Amino acid sequence: MKIAILSNGPGNYSTKRLKEEALKRGHEVDIIKYRDCYASIEKNSPTVSYRGEDLGKYDAIIPRISANMTRYGTAIVRQLEMQGVYTISSSLAINRSRDKLRSMQILAKAGVGIPKTVFSRNSADIDDLIDKLGGTPVIIKLARGTHGNGVVLAETKKAAKSVLQAFYLTNEDGTNILIQEFIKESAGTDIRAFVVGGRVVASMKRQSLDDDFRSNLHKGGQGTVVKLTLEERKMAVRAAKAMGLNVAGVDLMRSEQGPLILEVNASPGFGIETVTKRNVALPIIEYIELNAKRRNKKDKVGA
Ligand SMILES: Nc1ncnc2c1ncn2[C@@H]1O[C@H](COP(=O)(O)OP(=O)(O)O)[C@@H](O)[C@H]1O
Ligand SMILES: [Mg+2]
Repeated sequence: MKIAILSNGPGNYSTKRLKEEALKRGHEVDIIKYRDCYASIEKNSPTVSYRGEDLGKYDAIIPRISANMTRYGTAIVRQLEMQGVYTISSSLAINRSRDKLRSMQILAKAGVGIPKTVFSRNSADIDDLIDKLGGTPVIIKLARGTHGNGVVLAETKKAAKSVLQAFYLTNEDGTNILIQEFIKESAGTDIRAFVVGGRVVASMKRQSLDDDFRSNLHKGGQGTVVKLTLEERKMAVRAAKAMGLNVAGVDLMRSEQGPLILEVNASPGFGIETVTKRNVALPIIEYIELNAKRRNKKDKVGA
């Protein structure tokens, strides 16, 4: 097959690993910098070009769209979908996963456990909102934050109120803000489950090194191998499915109420391979081999 990896970082470990495994399986692979792609929108003939070549010739694409280029990247993916190119991650699903509020709504509707979450545009409601969550401390997060930036722990109502006011003030593009119960049992740790095609192919626990409550590897968190319980495994798979993602990095926390999903990443990093010694690139290529011949499935998430 002819496979294109849409990635702005040809030197990224994930991009290199995907290419390597696809080549091993006998496919032709190109890495396409989607930021340099351009699209032409015409009646009945959408096309995407890269360095003068039409990308319609590919049998499948693997989008690795970064969070800071979601809009452009997913527009390119959408255009390719319209051309009938198979994509392992749909533009709609990638877009949805980039909004934590929308994700929480979808996951809750699908019956997946999530931390109790509220949202509002008005910091005057803060007392009532915090009471709904069972009191402080609470977590306040920007719906479009990544790598742990934009996630704040507020110990008191007073602190929560000023954080919210600051967020609202600097928030001209209307990004939503979530307020969440603080899962103190597992502060500083979370679990990343790497899901491909309805199966958890690797999982690791991340622990912050200092006393940060955030366990993101980008914040200096460290990964170790962890074995998931059957319930955790099922919940991770269900979360990926609810989001309409065939490849997903599902983050969850162990809590007294059982596993709770924090977020579902559409372009999960492959650092998990180094931590767990599991191959996550191969199952992605195998999934494409099995599914690319079919048309892109109709999205059924409904949100
Ligand atoms: N409700 C919560 N309770 C306790 N810790 C949390 C909560 N939400 C997030 N965290 C911590 O903060 C980290 C970052 O939050 P997350 O929602 O995953 O945002 P990001 O997209 O920035 O990674 C998580 O990995 C977790 O360690
Ligand atoms: Mg996260």
